[in-house]
Formats: sequence, structure tokens, C-alpha cells
Amino acid sequence: MNSFMSWVGGKKALREAITVRLNRKCDRYVEVFGGGGWVLFHKPVGKFEVYNDFNSNLANLYRCVRDRPDELCRELTYTLNSREDFEYIRHIMRTKAELPDIRRAANFYQVIRQSYASGLDSFGAQPHNMWRNFPIIHEASARLQGVIVENKDFEKIIDQYDRPNTMFYFDPPYYETEDYYEDVGFTKEDHIRLRNALMGIKGKFLLSYNDCPEIRELYSRPGIMIESTTRLSNIAQRYDAGKQYPELLISNYDTYEEGVLARQLTLFDDFYEAERILKERKIIWKEIQKS
Ligand SMILES: C[S@@+](CC[C@H](N)C(=O)[O-])C[C@H]1O[C@@H](n2cnc3c(N)ncnc32)[C@H](O)[C@@H]1O
Repeated sequence: MNSFMSWVGGKKALREAITVRLNRKCDRYVEVFGGGGWVLFHKPVGKFEVYNDFNSNLANLYRCVRDRPDELCRELTYTLNSREDFEYIRHIMRTKAELPDIRRAANFYQVIRQSYASGLDSFGAQPHNMWRNFPIIHEASARLQGVIVENKDFEKIIDQYDRPNTMFYFDPPYYETEDYYEDVGFTKEDHIRLRNALMGIKGKFLLSYNDCPEIRELYSRPGIMIESTTRLSNIAQRYDAGKQYPELLISNYDTYEEGVLARQLTLFDDFYEAERILKERKIIWKEIQKS
């Protein structure tokens, strides 16, 4: 299924390529840089799943969608699709005024839905019927019922959930676009802090990044596999149809053996589609031991 919202850097276009690579031997799934949760919503439901994002507005919105979808939709019922209303809500958000959780979630959802390319900053000036989102919010609520929602820095989440049977998916702010995400303050040093944390991890991880020399350099290490792939850019499609962006998929296991092949053993009917995606993979670094 789809996420209930778009989000800057959302993995809509890569969600299948990521899902087929998830390690099938792990029965705990943790999405550390949650955002719009495109992989979480796309993957099969698991028995233990965690959504985390350091942005407290996002975590609050996820909790309200999961636990109070009727109240959230009620709060959104009389939302106006107008620049003035949008600017007013943005102003309230900037003042960090204390609001009830449901009001705060409704404000944030309105701004995501009405801003240009979901960038939160400027009014998108597009026709938009808020009521059309209500069934989507209810579907998302049903999917999130068993999901734990956290609001912590990535290092704390790793400490808390790291076990040999944990599958972590990391989708951090991309190198050189750290300032796209307000309220979290990701820095250049955080890329190094993340790499250091991942080098000591007990579980399995898959990490997606923009393809650039700095990230290739950071992860060309023993125990790691790096694949290059491309994705269509949602925003660039508007003026440059078919434009592809190069991406890296970095893991501490072989995504074919422990993703696709393990899938065949469990007779997933989309095995052949997974096989096709993985056949196109381009490995640019592989120094991992067989497990
Ligand atoms: C590229 S987006 C994730 C997009 C998501 N995978 C999706 O499909 O929508 C990166 C996310 O990391 C979050 N973030 C930034 N710094 C963080 C930190 N230190 N710990 C956890 N999350 C953080 C941001 O709030 C942002 O939502």
C-alpha cells in the first residue's frame, strides 16, 4: 500500500527495490529515518515493526493517525485550501505554541498536503480536496496498529533495538541536502556519526543514499556491500520527464542471498519480479563474509 502522505526525500520510487532487498531472516523491522514511511507501508506486515523520526511533528502525526483517525479527520473537516490559511498555520508552527496533539497533527498534515512539493515552505496553489484524504488516513491507521512510533535520534534507536535478528532500514538526509529537514538539524558530522554507529551494529542494515564520492568513501569498508541504482525524481518529472537520479544501496549482508533467495524459500509469489530487479544491480563494493 501507499503512504498517507508525500515527504521530501520519500522513497516512493525506490520502495520495491528496497523491499526486495530486506533481510528475510530477521523478524524485527526498524525504520529509523521514517519520514513518509514509504518502505514501511509497502513491505509485508511484520510481527515487530518500529517507525522512528527525530521530527516530533511527524511522530505526533503518526501517533494520531494510528490511534485517533476519526478525531484527526474531524479536525481537518473545515480546512481551507487558501494561501492565507496556509501562512497562518505556518506562523503558528514557527512559534512552537503548545497545542493539543490532534490540533498539532492536523496543522502539520495540512501544511504537508498544501505546500509546494510537500516542502512545507510555500503554498502549492493546487486544487486539493482534504476530504479525499480521509479514507487514506483510515487505511494508514489500520496498517499502523501494530507499529511502535518513536521520536529519537538515530543513535538512540540503534542502541535500543539492535539485536542479531533486527533489520534496520536507514534513509538519512542526503549528503549536501541536510538542511531540507527543519526541526532536526542534521549536519555533515552526523553522516560520520551514522557510519560509525553502523560499523558496530549486531543486526542487519540497509541504507539508502545519494550517489556521491563522499558517501562511497565513507562506506567502502570491510563487512559492507554497496550497490548503485537509479530512481525517477518525483519533482524533476514536472519539467524533465524520465530524469533519473543515481542512488546507493549499502548493506552489511548480501541482498541477493538474504533478500531475494530467502524469499524464494518462503514462496513469495513476486519472487520473479524481485529476481528481475536484483539482476539489474550493479555492485560497486563487496567485502562481506558469508553468514
Ligand atoms: C530522506 S527522509 C526519510 C524519507 C522516508 N524514507 C520516506 O520514504 O518518506 C529523512 C528523515 O530523517 C529525519 N531525521 C533527520 N535527522 C534525524 C536523526 N538525527 N534521527 C532520526 N531521524 C532524523 C528527517 O526528519 C526526515 O524525515
